[in-house]
Amino acid sequence: MEPRKKLIAGNWKMHLVPVEARALIAGLRAEIDRDAATLAKDREVMVAPPGVLIPAVAQALAGSSILLGAQNMHYEDKGAFTGEVSAPMLKSYGVTHVILGHSERRHIFHEPDELINKKVLAALRHRMVPILCVGETQDEHDSGNALAVVLRQLERGLEGIGEDQMPPVVVAYEPVWAIGTGRTATPEQVESIHGAIRGVILERYGRERASAMRIIYGGSVNAENVDSLVSKPDIDGALVGGASLKADSFARIVRARTR
Ligand code: PGA
Repeated sequence: MEPRKKLIAGNWKMHLVPVEARALIAGLRAEIDRDAATLAKDREVMVAPPGVLIPAVAQALAGSSILLGAQNMHYEDKGAFTGEVSAPMLKSYGVTHVILGHSERRHIFHEPDELINKKVLAALRHRMVPILCVGETQDEHDSGNALAVVLRQLERGLEGIGEDQMPPVVVAYEPVWAIGTGRTATPEQVESIHGAIRGVILERYGRERASAMRIIYGGSVNAENVDSLVSKPDIDGALVGGASLKADSFARIVRARTR
């Protein structure tokens, strides 16, 4: 069986205007594209700009190996949903991946598991790669409920997903207390949660699919700590917020030691 490729994904959140986005992509391409063939052997690189920047970024990425992702989307293809963006719209710009259920969507915009699940199903229906985010809050962590919370979000997020649809789904474990705080979970903590996530996937979808599925980590990943995380066998990459906004730091993260 093919070894899993690491996925290094940048989540730009609500940052940058087109001129800054183009400069960031140009900087990244200068750093990454020349090593593209080597990097592509064991990793994929993705950026997720804000929706309104997707056309500009798609253009700036023409001919690059860097993949284009979105930070969110609606589950319907079209209709009276003011302010929303659909999978066909994203796909028309070459978006292949979509981050769903990010903790900021869950906690600031109150997205429930049922809604996130509909979005995951919609992404799969459109042959996009859903990056399903799960993670416990500080309180849940302190009270020893991290694993229960993560597995509940996982089970609900994957509700109704058949075996044949499973391989493309990526799970991003992002403890809320580690996002944007400068506090990372230790590689050992992450490995143990990832192992439990893979265990659930194994029970539901079998060994082959469980070992093909990628589980990435997010929460204050930076150029200094990325090696210790993504060199672990069960940490299949990183979802990077703040440190993805500068070409040099994100390029360094992309070059992480993977074993
Ligand atoms: P951070 O964000 O790297 O700034 O902590 C990660 C994320 O929210 O995906």
